[in-house]
Amino acid sequence: MFLLLRHTVGLASITTVHPSLHPKCISHEAYIEPFAPSNIMMPIKCEAELLGNEKIAGDTWRITLSAPALARGAGPGQFVMVKGGKGANPPLWRRPFSIHQVIDNERIQLLIKAVGTGSEFIVSRRPGETLSLVGPLGRGFTLPEHAENICVIGGGVGAAPLFYLTSQLLARSTKPDTIKVFLGGATAADIQVLEKDFSGLGAVVLVATDDGSAGHHGLVTELLFHDLDPAMQWRVYSCGPQPMMKSVARYCLDKNWPCQVSLETLMACGISACLGCVVRGTGQTDLDGGGPYLHVCKEGPVFGAGEIRWET
Ligand SMILES: Cc1cc2nc3c(=O)[nH]c(=O)nc-3n(C[C@H](O)[C@H](O)[C@H](O)COP(=O)(O)OP(=O)(O)OC[C@H]3O[C@@H](n4cnc5c(N)ncnc54)[C@H](O)[C@@H]3O)c2cc1C
Ligand code: FES
Repeated sequence: MFLLLRHTVGLASITTVHPSLHPKCISHEAYIEPFAPSNIMMPIKCEAELLGNEKIAGDTWRITLSAPALARGAGPGQFVMVKGGKGANPPLWRRPFSIHQVIDNERIQLLIKAVGTGSEFIVSRRPGETLSLVGPLGRGFTLPEHAENICVIGGGVGAAPLFYLTSQLLARSTKPDTIKVFLGGATAADIQVLEKDFSGLGAVVLVATDDGSAGHHGLVTELLFHDLDPAMQWRVYSCGPQPMMKSVARYCLDKNWPCQVSLETLMACGISACLGCVVRGTGQTDLDGGGPYLHVCKEGPVFGAGEIRWET
């Protein structure tokens, strides 16, 4: 309870990285604006009933939860801290998961790759059981008023927050054929459900697989760099493995394209209390001459590409 209260206060006075600290970001939208007050929902803690649990690939599950109070205030790119609910004997610490989709302002979906104790515990819950959620947390994606010439790029389970984002972008677009989604995965089986779902939203979807079993044979970044017309102005959103995002960020900074990245670092508290999630930002504001330490759980998980020191 104490921690939740602290975060509530922390969110209300969210410290943003002002563009003046990051010269690279001034001339374009690599810097992202803070949530306007109307966008801020204080995080809540709730017991959410599990309504559905669907395996969409070998080790990846999509779960649907009833969480009306949380769903109503959640923006694309925000996340929840999850652990087992009442009657369960869950791992002690909550685990962070992006909000994959909000349905009818009532339900939220999470896309979870089972990689260890916490995620395996969550995906093994059955409908009717509950999960304990804290959220919505963090700073999500900033959306343009009119969405066109957009590139959304996801690697593996990094596609999770991009689905909600893409649905919101399409809702703001009169030119859905200019919203391109690039999905990368190890094999066709990893991405075929997601490819179908993103296409179902109305976006143009291009895929790449490591083994060539679907789409481009190779890295999804190769596909992106080949496909996007460099003479045009694209707005880019990215989530996935660190090397992928680093490559995308550098490409966009070079082209002066606005680019937002959603980072996934190890998180213990999710509420800016433990320093477990920090990354170094750009600029020279600290004692060691390096950039500021940024809490991914509070200042992020979404950052402008130019806000992050990618060397680290
Ligand atoms: C803001 C945020 C959003 C996230 N969204 C999603 C999502 O939508 N879907 C999803 O499947 N995962 C997501 N993750 C990653 C997810 O939180 C971790 O996979 C999960 O916490 C692992 O817990 P575990 O107990 O199952 O595994 P552990 O036993 O703790 O670890 C198993 C393996 O996973 C690695 N791992 C642990 N935590 C992370 C992490 N945060 N990022 C990358 N690797 C990690 C460990 O290094 C280890 O190799 C997100 C992480 C963050 C910070
Ligand atoms: S996860 Fe604890 S400070 Fe960010």
